[in-house]
Amino acid sequence: MTTPTPAITFGTPLTANATKVMLLGSGELGKEVLIALQRLGVETIAVDRYDNAPGQQVAHHARTITMSDPEQLKALIEAEKPLLVVPEIEAIATPMLEALEAAGTVRVVPTARAARLTMDREGIRRLAAETLGLPTSPYQFCDSLAELQAAVDGVDGKPGIGYPCVVKPVMSSSGKGQSKIDGPADVQKAWDYAMAGGRVSHGRVIVEGFIDFDYEITQLTVRARGADGSIETHFCDPIGHIQVSGDYVESWQPHPMPIAALELSRQIAKAVTDNLGLGHDGQPGGLGLFGVELFVKGDQVWFSEVSPRPHDTGLVTLTTQVQSEFELHARAILGLPVNTALRSPGASAVIYGGVEAQGIVFDGVAEALRVPNTDIRLFGKPESFTKRRMGVALAFDADVEVARSNAKLAASKVKPRAV
Ligand SMILES: Nc1ncnc2c1ncn2[C@@H]1O[C@H](COP(=O)(O)OP(=O)(O)OP(=O)(O)O)[C@@H](O)[C@H]1O
Ligand SMILES: [Mg+2]
Repeated sequence: MTTPTPAITFGTPLTANATKVMLLGSGELGKEVLIALQRLGVETIAVDRYDNAPGQQVAHHARTITMSDPEQLKALIEAEKPLLVVPEIEAIATPMLEALEAAGTVRVVPTARAARLTMDREGIRRLAAETLGLPTSPYQFCDSLAELQAAVDGVDGKPGIGYPCVVKPVMSSSGKGQSKIDGPADVQKAWDYAMAGGRVSHGRVIVEGFIDFDYEITQLTVRARGADGSIETHFCDPIGHIQVSGDYVESWQPHPMPIAALELSRQIAKAVTDNLGLGHDGQPGGLGLFGVELFVKGDQVWFSEVSPRPHDTGLVTLTTQVQSEFELHARAILGLPVNTALRSPGASAVIYGGVEAQGIVFDGVAEALRVPNTDIRLFGKPESFTKRRMGVALAFDADVEVARSNAKLAASKVKPRAV
């Protein structure tokens, strides 16, 4: 049984009775969570490392701090006194969140422990593979080029990971610093690339055996309160996606899967989210939506990683589900019931900046929206980079393949331009 968390009172924003929620990270995913919260009358505080981040443009309050600095984070939470703190990014001083949660200052979504375990690749990989015994790629952590070479080749007759394999900084996301090693000539290159691309330069990498999967999916998984107060696990339909250089470019839902692989995917997702739902007190109090990334080959499934928050590939749910992943997250964390039903098959395609400039303009928006059953989101990021995600095109259709081509077509019509 679960300990009941105190029921949330739904108040009026900007009054003494406001229900306040703070987002740590206010990019395009946070922006949608903030909108979903606002629709439920929640007072929102959008925090980011730079001014005018997408979510800051729609929240009641915007705050700019260095979220990896424990003292700045503590001071802000103590000053704002939100009921809930919702991490949207990984680069946060999570030990401070754990301390504040343990002291009863704030509740962290889903738990401060989950935020800490998923903030780098080591915490979550060791939990999944070593504590929970879930299937993952073979892996090793390395702190130097020599260690990486030994991990790939093996030492003292012990077999190594071998070729091909993938090297990633332990602290990185969106494929930054990540590369594939096909043979001995690539090892040094992969090490140097990881050192340049990691979030903080503490020089640790994971090397993983390359999984020759048929496809990869995101299994959105929601921990929400049932009518009797206990926590129930709900699953969305599987999301298929394509990654280029470790960054998502296209996603669709549902991805067709054999029933055995789908059941195994959900067992893995349940095991990992059950564990991440455990708080510092060992009680399963953690609520919210998770994006569980899985590799699939035939009936075989490997756990890759998990976001304890909405997932970028889940942007597709803005058009496919009765409640998008953002609405599901907002409802679940507030202790409300959720509905994970699919409304229509559909797809999403990323709109990249294409240019390096501030305050860009977008041509072709009307042409994009003339593609049947499409919609777009422009995130409003103040600065564009060639490979920065600036928007997304969405399409629904009874035939998921038609939706995919329409989403890509609509995305291609939007032309970002520097002025
Ligand atoms: N061991 C592996 N075998 C095969 N492909 C892999 C492996 N690890 C990663 N990939 C590919 O690279 C992609 C990105 O990897 P991963 O999810 O670990 O990185 P990330 O930087 O956290 O990306 P994101 O933040 O976009 O989720 C995966 O979705 C998959 O397509
Ligand atoms: Mg990933």
